[in-house]
Amino acid sequence: MIDFNDQHFRPLYHFSPPANWLNDPNGLVFYQGEYHLFYQYHPGSSVWGPMHWGHAVSLDLMNWKHLPVALYPDEHGMIFSGSAVIDWENSAGFGKEAMVAVFTHHHDHYEAQSLAYSNDCGRTWTKYTGNPVLLPPDGLCDFRDPKVFWYEENGAGYWVMVLAAHHAIRFYTSPNLIDWTPVSTFGEHYGAHNSVWETPDLFRLPVEGCDQSRWVLTVGIGSGGPGGASGMQYFIGQFDGKAFTSDNSESTVLWVDFGADYYAAQSWSDSPDGRRLMIGWLNNWQYAQLIPTTTWRGVLSLPREMSLRRTADGIRLFQQPAAEVLNQRGAHIEWTDLNVSPGDNPLVNLHGCALELDVAFIVNPQVEYFGFRLRVGAGEQTIIAYDMREQKLFVDRSHSGQTDFEPGFTRVHFAKMRPVDGIVHLQIFLDWSCIEVFGNDGEVTITDTIFPAEASQGVELFAQGGEVQVRLLKVYEMKPASITAVEG
Ligand code: FRU
Repeated sequence: MIDFNDQHFRPLYHFSPPANWLNDPNGLVFYQGEYHLFYQYHPGSSVWGPMHWGHAVSLDLMNWKHLPVALYPDEHGMIFSGSAVIDWENSAGFGKEAMVAVFTHHHDHYEAQSLAYSNDCGRTWTKYTGNPVLLPPDGLCDFRDPKVFWYEENGAGYWVMVLAAHHAIRFYTSPNLIDWTPVSTFGEHYGAHNSVWETPDLFRLPVEGCDQSRWVLTVGIGSGGPGGASGMQYFIGQFDGKAFTSDNSESTVLWVDFGADYYAAQSWSDSPDGRRLMIGWLNNWQYAQLIPTTTWRGVLSLPREMSLRRTADGIRLFQQPAAEVLNQRGAHIEWTDLNVSPGDNPLVNLHGCALELDVAFIVNPQVEYFGFRLRVGAGEQTIIAYDMREQKLFVDRSHSGQTDFEPGFTRVHFAKMRPVDGIVHLQIFLDWSCIEVFGNDGEVTITDTIFPAEASQGVELFAQGGEVQVRLLKVYEMKPASITAVEG
């Protein structure tokens, strides 16, 4: 029997593996009431190795049931990242409503795309005998992480595959998930290119407040992200079923998140009520294998709902915690119209490691910084604050606890953000070693891991250089999610 809260770094309401190594979320699909979550998994070790697809299901995106490993490495190689779809009309011939996983077979000398299917709601899996279904073009080593979806226009439809191919995204189409035709390439000269592109996703979203829509292409890069090393960028534009064109210039770089620990995020296929829900790996390749957990390693972010809004800079991606996250709220305390002067800490009696803090600050040009110190203990604190002079939100984990496993870990992560009508609104989720900050209703997010001592549980509200007014602060205790052990 595994004790799921055996260590004080393990989060209580974020998803983590029962034991051993986890990286990217894979194969996210909703079917018959269940959200499926597969993930890059090494069942034999807490560092990366021969990749499998671990598996869990949830009715509400927060409470998870672990299932047995879904896909094992085979003669074609390891099972790298990919997606899953429901083949509603049996286009592949694997059975009506088969759940089909489209993934990368990673071989020592090449990467190729392959299929596996399940006819029992993802409980058992059969690899397609004709694997691999898509071999790399000559000489291309990095050719992976297929995201597949059904594209329909004027009553006719086909499958689209979005694939990371070295420093670009390649698009393929297929009538049956088996035969793939190359149709276009995007990105060689667009956005950030510090390392090869990985784990793409592509989806359409309405632009709030008008009757337009845009396509969003998200792409991971292993180094050069805004928080150092791994980061996720996105492009906004049009997709005509074959090719993606960006609305922005080649040199525009848009980041999904400004922390160090949000990577390889993917969205659910077929999610009910049309929401675009994403979940990312809360880690960074720079130090992923060195973080100080022992028997398990790797966490996924909270599920986030994506939207597009017009801002002064153009159309931008906004992210908010999925509504289900708020079901984890327990008891709360609230304060209204609180003035905080330098040296004050109105939260002196508050402690906690699994909290949500939802706050609206009324900004004042005299104040330099204001915000919170979390996980405060002997010599330890993590600062989440707004810098009024520089107009930026930041997370400073330089004294957060264990940091010496990676020299760059102490770097401060910041995101440009202007007050809206004189208000800075922050929604902060703390879950032992995980921090997710949503600024101004998800205009920017900063996601970071921290590794404090178990006893560091203090919470402080502070202002520096002047007084700040809190219009409303609510602090919720977050309830642990129920995670049930591996079935079978
Ligand atoms: C992204 C990634 C993917 C690859 C997987 C291997 O984090 O590098 O490109 O499929 O991890 O585990």
